[in-house]
Amino acid sequence: MQQVKLTTPDGVSEIVVGELLSSRLQMLEQEPILMIDENVLIQHHDLFEPFRSVIIPSGESNKTLQTVEALYRELVGLGADRSTLMVGIGGGLATDLAGFVASTFLRGTPFGFISTTLLGQVDASIGGKNGVNLEGYKNMIGTIRQPSFVWCDLSLLGTLESREYISGIAEVIKYGFIRDIHFLEYLEEHMETLLKQDLSVLEHVVTTSAAIKTEVVQKDEKEANLRKILNFGHTIGHAIERHKGILHGEAVGLGMLLAARLSHLQGLLSASEVDRVEQLVLSAGLPVSMKLDPEEIYQNIRKDKKKSGEDVHFVLLKGMGNTIIRPIPLPELKSIVYDLC
Ligand code: GLY
Repeated sequence: MQQVKLTTPDGVSEIVVGELLSSRLQMLEQEPILMIDENVLIQHHDLFEPFRSVIIPSGESNKTLQTVEALYRELVGLGADRSTLMVGIGGGLATDLAGFVASTFLRGTPFGFISTTLLGQVDASIGGKNGVNLEGYKNMIGTIRQPSFVWCDLSLLGTLESREYISGIAEVIKYGFIRDIHFLEYLEEHMETLLKQDLSVLEHVVTTSAAIKTEVVQKDEKEANLRKILNFGHTIGHAIERHKGILHGEAVGLGMLLAARLSHLQGLLSASEVDRVEQLVLSAGLPVSMKLDPEEIYQNIRKDKKKSGEDVHFVLLKGMGNTIIRPIPLPELKSIVYDLC
């Protein structure tokens, strides 16, 4: 079992990586209310059955204020008060929703997460971003509030569909590209065993990813600057993800490759380094090419830009393990997207 501590002005969030962590629920000082993803509940009913719980409906289309309101009502029905510990259980969707509900119900109750997917364990559950979508815009409504604990239970990953697991690897390799060349080398050497879910490799990979994200979040919790580097591959990735049937990590994998090519066009990355990005994405079993309509990708990036200012801020690689953020004005962006797709 490994531990990482995330310290912010509001306190310490304890991230624990290991097996069978769900059994710790019995040892909590107070009786929690669980907010459980419906698929997780179906698969692991016996683990959570003894506790008071509410169900979070699965699927991105349920990540809405309507679901939040329904959960508030259920919590009232269960007699929750300001001191009730809420535990969100599931992947990124469930923990984003549970964290938002816990952060706003009675102006905020204590909360923690049991993260059950690789994507959730290495990214979504860490760093305190909670929220829901609005009118098709991802995470438009939300808070930044840290859970008091995140338990990354590796024993629950075995029931993930292979495609979901691989999607999580995209966020793992992102950390190597943006922040840690040694981790990148480790992933190049151990991808085969990671794909087989070897437990010691998995524990190292989840712990290192959590440690890298923690280091970035501790320096810039509110995303004034440094935290933006975690969005490497996400500008184009989110635009690709709007296509139906593409998983987040699949879109981010391709988004990272296109961002690496853009880094090369901007003179920041050599051709052999772009190849290295492509090889690692490919070795994880993630797509490295897709039939993309450049006009549609450009329009999707423009729509997403509603959330920021005039320019699109691209996270680019300046050599491996290092980043730079470049504002790209919209008129330039169009020809860049046409070049890349
Ligand atoms: N997933 C990006 C972040 O937490 O900032």
